[in-house]
Amino acid sequence: MPRLVVISNRVAVPKARGVPGAQGGLAGALNAALKANGGIWFGWSGEETDKFTGSINYVRSAEGVTTATIDLEHQDVEEYYNGYANSTLWPLFHYRIDLTRYEREFGKGYERVNERFAESALPLIEPEDSVWVHDYHLLPLGERLRSMSIENRMGFFLHTPWPPTNLFVSLPYHERLVRAMLHYDLLGFQNNTWLESFLHYCGKELGADVAPETGAVTLEGKTTIARAYPIGIDFDHFMSKGDTGEARQAQQRLMASTRRRTAMIGVDRLDYSKGLPERLDGISRFFDRHPERTRDLVFIQIAPPSREDIGSYQQIRATLEQKAGQINGARSDVDVVPVRYVNRGYAQEELFGFYRASKIGLVTPLRDGMNLVAKEYVAAQDPDDPGVLILSMFAGAAQQFDCDGEGALLINPHSADDIAHNIRIALDMPLEERKSRYEKLITSVREENVQRWTENFVGDLAGVER
Ligand code: G6P
Repeated sequence: MPRLVVISNRVAVPKARGVPGAQGGLAGALNAALKANGGIWFGWSGEETDKFTGSINYVRSAEGVTTATIDLEHQDVEEYYNGYANSTLWPLFHYRIDLTRYEREFGKGYERVNERFAESALPLIEPEDSVWVHDYHLLPLGERLRSMSIENRMGFFLHTPWPPTNLFVSLPYHERLVRAMLHYDLLGFQNNTWLESFLHYCGKELGADVAPETGAVTLEGKTTIARAYPIGIDFDHFMSKGDTGEARQAQQRLMASTRRRTAMIGVDRLDYSKGLPERLDGISRFFDRHPERTRDLVFIQIAPPSREDIGSYQQIRATLEQKAGQINGARSDVDVVPVRYVNRGYAQEELFGFYRASKIGLVTPLRDGMNLVAKEYVAAQDPDDPGVLILSMFAGAAQQFDCDGEGALLINPHSADDIAHNIRIALDMPLEERKSRYEKLITSVREENVQRWTENFVGDLAGVER
């Protein structure tokens, strides 16, 4: 395998915010890929400076992964990270054009930072390396590197959904962005839905020649391959976290505090794409329908704050505080509080323990590229007494599990009735059914892991013709 140069906006856990485990799926997955292949991981340090210097900071982690990072200046963070990446592309890619902001300054900042990434990464790339770029922050980076005469094989993976064409065309200069993407040799998506939307766009809006069987997109004589590569978790690594004192302690802690009640858990970055208010509405509906069960169920929502400088994130936080407060106000007793809402992150060991102590996992995003919490929840279950996963039909994970309704309980996250109904089914599910559903899910989580994802993508990248 060639040496990898991985480039992504984030290179590791955003330690500055003191929320381990809040980094989303990307950072963990890339760490695993680099451990396996060797190479270097380049990105933003998470630090802000007054003036961009371009100086590179190298760190070698205990696991043997070398990271190279640059600081960005305030204006970059504002226009590129808070702006174009997270106020334009993120909501648009999650089908939320109501939250999408189109500001000329954001677009300029995005292009400037992509140029800065390219200039800084350039000296790190050796002739035989494969370059692997990640996520919506860096869509035009490949084109920038090509303009600097980089001839290496270059691949790009999108961790989020790709929206349907009729939504995507609401983005000013959408053509320019996708034309830039076609400078990569290989484009990866989480599943066929997002892949098909992308191919549809290329055919319809760019007039590209698209071969759906092979994913070949040819425009002006240059061909790019686009395929689906569903991401997984680092299964063995995650399981080893479960085999620790911290994990066992966390499990005990939760079990002791919930006693005879069933614990139901949700773990999500505090993001509007995760369907958190809708989830609370579903829980509220459950208690309305079954007031006698208030003492049977306790819901734990772990939601570390994310992208806190952006208005839509501040708003979702306020909404959730209000809704959690409402349910607890209406349903609590001196010794019963039905919703525990926690705005902090936890280490993976502790999460493992919390998942294992929870007999229901609630993963209900309105739209999600994949969702690795769903996979971690399954991985952490006790095979002899597994919990039930309630999963949104709009998470990439639902498509990948593909168990014909015999794995997770699939729900429509917009429907409070559907959520409430499935909570009741999960609470009453007999052990045999829980086991058979778990068996189907765990096979997928174990086999379709992050190592396989990396091998498939990097292997295909090594095979593309240049
Ligand atoms: C999602 C994105 C990642 C991102 C992560 C955390 O998983 O796909 O690219 O790193 O969220 O968000 P943040 O803005 O803190 O990097």
